[in-house]
Amino acid sequence: MTPTINTTRLQHELHHLATLTDCPPGPGPPPPRRAPPRRPPPPRGGPPPPPAPNTTAVTRILFTPRDVEARAYVRALAEAAGFEIRTDAIGNTFIRFLGTDPTLPAIGTGSHTDAIPHAGMYDGTVGVLGGLEALRSLKESGFQPRRSIELLVFTSEEPTRFGIGCIGSRLLGGVLSPQTADNLPDLLDETNLGTPSGTPTSSGAPSVPVASSPERVGSQDTSTAEVRTLHDVRTAAGFTAPLTTVPLPPNYYAAWVELHIEQGPLLERENIPIGIVTNIAAPASYRYEITGLGGHAGALLMPDRRDALTAAAELILSVERHTLAANAASGTSDSVATIGTVAVHPGAVNSVPSRVTLMLDIRDTDTNRRNQTMQALRTDIKEIQTRRGVTITERQINADAPATSDPHIVRTLETICTTNAIPHKKMVSRAYHDTSFIARIAPVAMIFIPCRAGVSHRPDEYATPESIAVGTQVLALTLAQLANENPAT
Ligand code: GLV
Ligand code: MN
Ligand code: MN
Repeated sequence: MTPTINTTRLQHELHHLATLTDCPPGPGPPPPRRAPPRRPPPPRGGPPPPPAPNTTAVTRILFTPRDVEARAYVRALAEAAGFEIRTDAIGNTFIRFLGTDPTLPAIGTGSHTDAIPHAGMYDGTVGVLGGLEALRSLKESGFQPRRSIELLVFTSEEPTRFGIGCIGSRLLGGVLSPQTADNLPDLLDETNLGTPSGTPTSSGAPSVPVASSPERVGSQDTSTAEVRTLHDVRTAAGFTAPLTTVPLPPNYYAAWVELHIEQGPLLERENIPIGIVTNIAAPASYRYEITGLGGHAGALLMPDRRDALTAAAELILSVERHTLAANAASGTSDSVATIGTVAVHPGAVNSVPSRVTLMLDIRDTDTNRRNQTMQALRTDIKEIQTRRGVTITERQINADAPATSDPHIVRTLETICTTNAIPHKKMVSRAYHDTSFIARIAPVAMIFIPCRAGVSHRPDEYATPESIAVGTQVLALTLAQLANENPAT
């Protein structure tokens, strides 16, 4: 059995999905089937490569019209291919190629179609449409799986709308309680919907009206505001069943493999078409609220100030300092931390900021080291509060453990690559993925393919059609092998 990947079909579908965006049209993503000229690898430690030409950005936030359209598009493709489809109470979509023994635990694959504001067109979508192509090519080759093979399109891998990533997979894996999930406040109107100016486009309007949330900074009145929650948003989008029905039963999947772009530069730099992920780094995120004293920008004298934004600036630099120190101490680059959102109240040029809210994303391959960096930051925060006369509160959004791939699936991937003369290497994922949470309930691994200059979460994210086809081929062969091996293997 040799599945034939239909690259033209897959590229057409990826490019169609990219048109479902809340960003205004730009010059357009790179046309299908035209690989960019190969650049020599940048010298180690040298300057980063020049940015590639800008392309249409993809913004697809959970339960906005564009997100709903994207899911409907994938469903329609799966229906046309004759697969069974079901959707759960959070919108996770299961597309099943039925096995000859459907009582056996299935083999799973999948990824996400949501995209952060102003992102690219390959993050997540390669695993969804590549996954669909893998199932279709197996079916078209006449292959009969013994175990069912299932493609899962996850709800909200990205944290944009509710502040926490992987909502669908956390619920499936029993990592997030249904009640906590339903109560998550909607942060949509804190979100830059993808226009470079930060101005929401009319097509970026949410599918449901959004009320004010006390979680939001910058809203003029948070005391009487109604809080819109995930429960409100999902039920308005038609997902009304209780979230208690979402967690998967034990042994639902016998094995799980996600296909994804690397989102880092190593595979391209080393000219290796396939990465086999052995570990996924441990992510955590925190929300800080810094409260000082506002006032007139001309009349409030400097010695009397308790400026929330200058205190926030110190906090931000402290994050960077301790993360760099962690790397220097470990001799690695495995510690990373980012402040990606800052909201300033009241947000007027002639008003001293009285309140700032920001979110910290911190990751490490070593959970202890991540915790030590956080402790060093907290020591600085105490000192900043005292010296500047501000109050700083910290709220943990998530602090997850790293995930480890299953040795049998890793070996299977290695054997398939070797047999097909495909160069490959084992590697760590520094991005998080839904696979991190499926790992709580099933043996997992991931397949990475190169992306240009390692760029991701940017409109100029790019993977060649050839890379995507090779990744899809390896995925199809792996799913087929896992589906037909002995249950005891
Ligand atoms: C996923 O999008 C991540 O932020 O790692
Ligand atoms: Mn992403
Ligand atoms: Mn992703």
